[in-house]
Amino acid sequence: MHVDLLIKNAAQLITCASPGKPKRGTAMKDVGLITNGAIAITDGQIVALSTTDELKAYTARETIDAANKVVCPGFVDCHTHIAFGGNRLDEFEMRIQGATYMEIMNAGGGIMSTVRATRAASKQQLIDEAAARLDIMLALGTTTVEVKTGYGLDTATELKLLQVIEALASIRTLDIVPTFLGAHAVPAEYKDRADAYLDLVSQEMLPTVKDWYTASLFAERNIPLFADVFCEANVFDREQSRRVLQVAKDYGMGIKAHVDEFKSLNGVTMALELGTISVDHLDVTGMDEITALASSDTIAVPLPAVNFNLGSTHFANARAMLDSGAALALATDMNPGSAPCYSMPFIMAIASRYQRLTPAEALNASTINAAHAIGLGDRIGSLEVGKQADVLIINAPDYREIVYEFGGNRVEQVIKKGQIVL
Ligand code: NIG
Ligand code: FE
Repeated sequence: MHVDLLIKNAAQLITCASPGKPKRGTAMKDVGLITNGAIAITDGQIVALSTTDELKAYTARETIDAANKVVCPGFVDCHTHIAFGGNRLDEFEMRIQGATYMEIMNAGGGIMSTVRATRAASKQQLIDEAAARLDIMLALGTTTVEVKTGYGLDTATELKLLQVIEALASIRTLDIVPTFLGAHAVPAEYKDRADAYLDLVSQEMLPTVKDWYTASLFAERNIPLFADVFCEANVFDREQSRRVLQVAKDYGMGIKAHVDEFKSLNGVTMALELGTISVDHLDVTGMDEITALASSDTIAVPLPAVNFNLGSTHFANARAMLDSGAALALATDMNPGSAPCYSMPFIMAIASRYQRLTPAEALNASTINAAHAIGLGDRIGSLEVGKQADVLIINAPDYREIVYEFGGNRVEQVIKKGQIVL
């Protein structure tokens, strides 16, 4: 059998395989390890996967010898805000001196300062800066990235951000998944009029976004569109969040929610009632809602870079989520304020130490389960026959190194859709 690309002799081939559904419970402790593994790839897809010995009849146009190396799925970053202008370096210094994230936001900084910079930036400038961010992520092993809007907060700038995200998908090899986050904050023009702003989001932005998506390359590539909301004290309360997500759902969009980052408004209960694909942050979620989450199809997505970046020692109770049987994924939340973090391995490093995930759990959460959190679990996130060939060659013989070390980068080669892109 002749194929395009053959990867062989891998010390550990890590598949993260989980046919058709995210992993939970004991399956999270299993990374699907094949010793001395090999993968055969043709037309961007995995056509065979087993031990090197089993695949010895295969010949290939190109062969990678992965002796002493780990071969694993590309990382999936299922929650980011990489399309933004400006920076928040002054606020970083304010926080070091004791100001809190929410104090800065309530004083008109935070998300709103990035909104001002993003409105002022040209589309090309935003594309160039976000593309540079994607390049850093790819070098760290991320092959699929969800990207949210949310720094426009007016119809024109939110649309500009969607066009930026679409441009990224056409100029970069990574898969990009768009999420509309018009309900990220109440813009200054609508101060103390959150409901009026949500009218604009529901009546003007969401239909505009829907039309944009229908004609976009995402629809053409069969990549889903999501809508999201920041359900938080002093931002959007639970019923406001429900309202905007319900409208998005009625427009046929997938839905997600930022909940319980600082204060619980029982947003998880609301999100489960609506059937969101994921609930993200979950820092202050209580046991009742964790139990409800565990018996639902909604993916729990803690974002531990936020806690780390804000200098907190409190983290989402990811251990309880896993032990209750929830499907758990991890992401960077890359953004200029709460989480200027590019690296999925660094997220796994934090989650293992502060949230007691084993390396296997952290890796499954960053691959197959993260793929399910953006509706792509049938195509990416694991190494299985028929799936897209998004594969990493890691310069270490044991997959646990990915999670154990931090601050470096063991990603040696990145294969995206069967092409060696790095
Ligand atoms: O996920 N929580 C709301 N949104 C982002 C932060 C955005 C920002 O600070 O610019 C988050 O943490
Ligand atoms: Fe976020």
